[in-house]
Amino acid sequence: MKKELIMILAGAVAVAGCNSTPQLTEKNIDKVIKAMTLEEKALLVTGIGMDTGSEGMAATVGASAQRVPGAAGATHAIPRLGIPSIVLSDGPAGVRINPTREGDDNTYYCTHFPIGTLLSSTWNQELVEEVGESMGNEVLEYGCDVLLAPALNIHRNPLNGRNFEYYSEDPVLSGKIAAAYVRGIQSNGVGTSIKHFVANNQETNRTAVDEKISDRAMREIYLKGFEIAVKESDPWTIMTSYNKINGIYTSEDHALLEDILRDDWGYKGTVMTDWYGGKDAIAQVHAGNDMLQPGRPSQYNDIIDGVKNGTLDEAELDRNVKRILQLIVRTPIFKNYAYSNKPDLEAHAKVTRQSAVEGMVLLENKNATLPLAAEAKNVAVFGNTSYDFIAGGTGSGNVNRAYTVSLLDGLSNAGLQADANLQKMYEEYLAKIAKEAASVDGDLFSFLPKPLPAEFVPAAKDIAAAAAANDVAIITFGRISGEFVDRTVADFNLSAKEKQLVNDVTKAFHAAGKKVIVVLNIGGVIETASWKNTPDAILLSWQAGQEGGNSVADVLTGKENPSGRLPMTWPVAFEDHKSSENFPRSETFELNLNAFMGIEQVAGDKKDFDWTKYEEGIYVGYRWFDKSGIQVSYPFGYGLSYTTFEYSTPEVAKEGDKVCVKLSVKNTGAVAGKEVVQLYVSAPGKTLDKPVKELKAFAKTATIAAGESADVTLCFNVNDLASWNEETSAWELENGTYTISLGSSCLNILTNAELAI
Ligand code: BGC
Repeated sequence: MKKELIMILAGAVAVAGCNSTPQLTEKNIDKVIKAMTLEEKALLVTGIGMDTGSEGMAATVGASAQRVPGAAGATHAIPRLGIPSIVLSDGPAGVRINPTREGDDNTYYCTHFPIGTLLSSTWNQELVEEVGESMGNEVLEYGCDVLLAPALNIHRNPLNGRNFEYYSEDPVLSGKIAAAYVRGIQSNGVGTSIKHFVANNQETNRTAVDEKISDRAMREIYLKGFEIAVKESDPWTIMTSYNKINGIYTSEDHALLEDILRDDWGYKGTVMTDWYGGKDAIAQVHAGNDMLQPGRPSQYNDIIDGVKNGTLDEAELDRNVKRILQLIVRTPIFKNYAYSNKPDLEAHAKVTRQSAVEGMVLLENKNATLPLAAEAKNVAVFGNTSYDFIAGGTGSGNVNRAYTVSLLDGLSNAGLQADANLQKMYEEYLAKIAKEAASVDGDLFSFLPKPLPAEFVPAAKDIAAAAAANDVAIITFGRISGEFVDRTVADFNLSAKEKQLVNDVTKAFHAAGKKVIVVLNIGGVIETASWKNTPDAILLSWQAGQEGGNSVADVLTGKENPSGRLPMTWPVAFEDHKSSENFPRSETFELNLNAFMGIEQVAGDKKDFDWTKYEEGIYVGYRWFDKSGIQVSYPFGYGLSYTTFEYSTPEVAKEGDKVCVKLSVKNTGAVAGKEVVQLYVSAPGKTLDKPVKELKAFAKTATIAAGESADVTLCFNVNDLASWNEETSAWELENGTYTISLGSSCLNILTNAELAI
């Protein structure tokens, strides 16, 4: 035995002795870089490309052939130096890979968790961390190394086609939820990529648009969430955005990537481009955009030529190579992790069902319509989407899941009986539409969000029959959006048929003494002011992942008490947002996919297309509505519960730079529930232009039993109250008396305290 060991060791020494090429370890990165040729360095900083032949666009939604088919990208292996290829896979709602493989009978489905906006609506960092733990386990067990998520661009305007992937109009909520997600995913020993850094706030012409933003708005609104996520979770990677800011592509912006991200915030990880983002590979390497994804031969050649002709300093290339190698040595593939391809999908289905419940927002509940009475067993189910529930949005934020539980299935699993006549009518209608749609499929645009079928409105006699035969009506309205296109104002508003449906059904059911509930299976804000008083209850279920129908049924039946709160303002009209004056009306722009790929990118001067001016500055979301006094339909932070809460007088304690506020929250209703306590601060505003108030901290209680109380402590730093002074390019803190407001929405402040600075 001893003799054998000595022989093995001797053999190893002999191999190492005769082979002077270093093999990558955590400790010899500099040595490996020294041993690399210029070509190998250029190879490592450019991804392996796509298998579409034309550096094509289909790949951006998952077509690259590699170790994990369907993953978005990978790095080149350099076997000579012991450098493996790492796999990067989308995206925010779960791992996006191909569910089947050629010549293989196994399936590779991933769990479709709730969309980002639903996760932020939970306002529950522990819960989001748990979701991240499960999602990260699928990253690990399917052989991926980095998940291209979370996405945390600010909801500047409700029409952004990708808002569903993003968290909020507020940077503190966005940053804290993103940090929780990153911590959860990375606890598995796999990486994340917080994206899209920064200000990717419109899909229209996203690869060329120049976002004209003031420094103050950048620091306080658009960068802030990323700053929080970087400092509170240390993401392994960051993905730069497609757009320019004030004339410079973010992926080519040295001041953004080296000065702000690394020097100011202390970020130590790796930066990669969004897929085909930016134009100039040399500028990207110089700017500290370490990895160019998915990688093009032209970029590889430009980098080599640049070093040879002196336009690129090889030391800068080495710096980026080093950051990529530092990433690689952390990955499961480098550590030879034996992935199973068999994550526990059943356990994760339970996690998604539970987490979805916490992010659902009860918008209306007249006369305690919900939860449904125990005797209500027969349900008239209206709305196309009830029968074809939407799990999430389209594009790279989609997940290839094994199934989606529709509302119909969810109700039936909960022991409720759907009206069979209505079901037949809807299913026939939807089958007919699907047949017509199939004939126009297969074109270049097939991966864009497909328009949903026009709302089916049953005849008056059928609605009346349903009202007579059932205990209650449920109507679902759906919306779908995704990458490449923004939503339209028509999509924001209810269609004439949707309005007719809610009016006709409510009239017939009220005439029969029965109630109507509307479920919103949507990914972004819609108009509600004109119709919200018609039905008896409105539940915003968002796009709740693959268990959506079960989660909705859990809330409707009262098995769970809804505790979601809105992470954005719901305006009366789309135009009420100040940003609407400067946001693309996508219906007026022609969709040019070649422009997206950078193939035919002719720069023009069209407002909101070639450039978009953020005239609202820091007045985004509730900051604008507070300032202007414009009435909203539902304010930021709003959401009802099946119970009620009372707050005690808060105690404020300041220790050094840290301010902590303590209070007790009492459940004054009849059922157990969770409350979200929101802490806003108003500055004196005498020497600085300041918003009326800003969210600085929030906390979600554990479940509080009826009649019981829970203690809540919320903390923030004095520096969080500072504003960016554009003249001095520095943070500035105003002295004076600040007001701390605690409430259950930004308009429902329940108690106040003062803080002297
Ligand atoms: C998206 C990214 C995504 C990437 C890779 C791009 O089109 O903007 O969010 O991670 O594709 O699929």
